[in-house]
Amino acid sequence: MKVTVVGAGNVGATCADVIAQKELVNEVVLLDIKENFAEGKALDIWQTAPVNLYDTRVTGSTNDYSKTAKSDVVVITSGLPRKPGMSRDDLISTNAGIVKGVTENILKYSPDAIIIIVSNPLDVMTYCAYLTAKVDSRRVFGMAGILDTARYRAFLAEELNCSPKDIQAVLMGGHGDTMVPLPRYTTVSGIPVTELIKKERLDEIIDRTKKGGGEIVNLLGTSAWYAPGASAAQMVEAIVRDQKRIFPVCAWLQGEYGLKDIYLGVPVKLGKNGIEQIIELKLNDSETKLLNESAKAVKEVMNVLDTMNSASVIK
Ligand code: NAI
Ligand code: 2OP
Repeated sequence: MKVTVVGAGNVGATCADVIAQKELVNEVVLLDIKENFAEGKALDIWQTAPVNLYDTRVTGSTNDYSKTAKSDVVVITSGLPRKPGMSRDDLISTNAGIVKGVTENILKYSPDAIIIIVSNPLDVMTYCAYLTAKVDSRRVFGMAGILDTARYRAFLAEELNCSPKDIQAVLMGGHGDTMVPLPRYTTVSGIPVTELIKKERLDEIIDRTKKGGGEIVNLLGTSAWYAPGASAAQMVEAIVRDQKRIFPVCAWLQGEYGLKDIYLGVPVKLGKNGIEQIIELKLNDSETKLLNESAKAVKEVMNVLDTMNSASVIK
C-alpha cells in the first residue's frame, strides 16, 4: 500500500516518520512545494530504516504529483502553522488556497484515495477539501480529535500519576477553544474519571486541554508536531489495517447530533473504507449546549470560506 503526505514540514515529516517506523505501508511519498525540501526530509527519514529496522520506502518530491500516483491514503499537512497571537482561523484564506490546489492535484493521480486533512483551521480546511474533491464524505475527513484527546489523556495521566494507556476519553466539537471534552465519557481502566478527580480540578484540566495547542505555540513560537504527526499516523493505521477503531474525527454531519451540512469532531469508526460509521452518543443538555456552541463557531468560519469562494478569493 502507498501513502502520500503533502507538506514535508514539522507535522508532515513526523507523520511520515511514524508511518515508516510502524511499517504501516510499503511506500510513503512526502511532497512539498519548497524545492528539494521533501527530498531532503525523506532521505533523512529513509536513512533511519537500517537503524530502526523497517522496510517502508520513503521518498520525496518537489510538487511532482505523478510520484504520488495510486496512493491509498493521502494526509494533507501543507499550509502555514500558527504563530504566537494568531488564531487557527487567521490562517483561513492562505491555507484554503493551498488545500484546494493540493486536493485537485492529488485526485488527478489518486482518484480513489482517502484524504485526511490536518491543515488549519482544521474543520474548515476539511470542508474546503470536501468541496473541492466532490467525492463521498466518508473519504474526506480531518484529524484533530485524536490530538485533542491525547492532550486531555496526557494531562489526566499526569494528574493521577498513572499510565496514559489506561485513560480512555472522547472529545467532540471543533478544533478550537470551543472543543467539548466529555468527562462523563472519560474512564481510567473503566473507572469513571469523575470518581477519581474532583470537579474543580477536572475543569482546570479541561480548560488546559482546550488551550493545549496555544500552550505549545507560546512555548515554541510555532505549533506542535510530534503529537499531531503521530495522531494523523494513527488514523492512517486504522484505515490501511482496516482496524475499525473508534476515534474522534472531523466528519461531515448530515443530521447526526441534530447538525447538518457541517464538518465537526464526533466519534467515528475508521476502517478500510474511511469513515464506516458515525457514532451518536447520548448527550445531556449541557453537553448538547456546548456542542451546539462549538458547531456555531465552526459554521461561522465555514460561512467565511463560502463567501470567499463565491467572491472567487480562493484560487
Ligand atoms: P510547517 O510550516 O512546518 O510545514 C508546512 C509545509 O507545507 C511547509 O514545508 C510548506 O513548504 C508546505 N507547503 C505550503 N504550501 C504548499 C503547497 N501548495 N503544496 C505543498 N506543500 C506546501 O507547518 P506544520 O507545523 O507542519 O503545520 C502544518 C499545518 O498543520 C498548519 O496549517 C498547522 O496549523 C496545522 N496543524 C494542525 C493540527 C491539527 O490538529 N489538525 C496540529 C498541528 C498543526
Ligand atoms: C494544535 O492544536 C495548532 O492545531 C494546532 O497544536
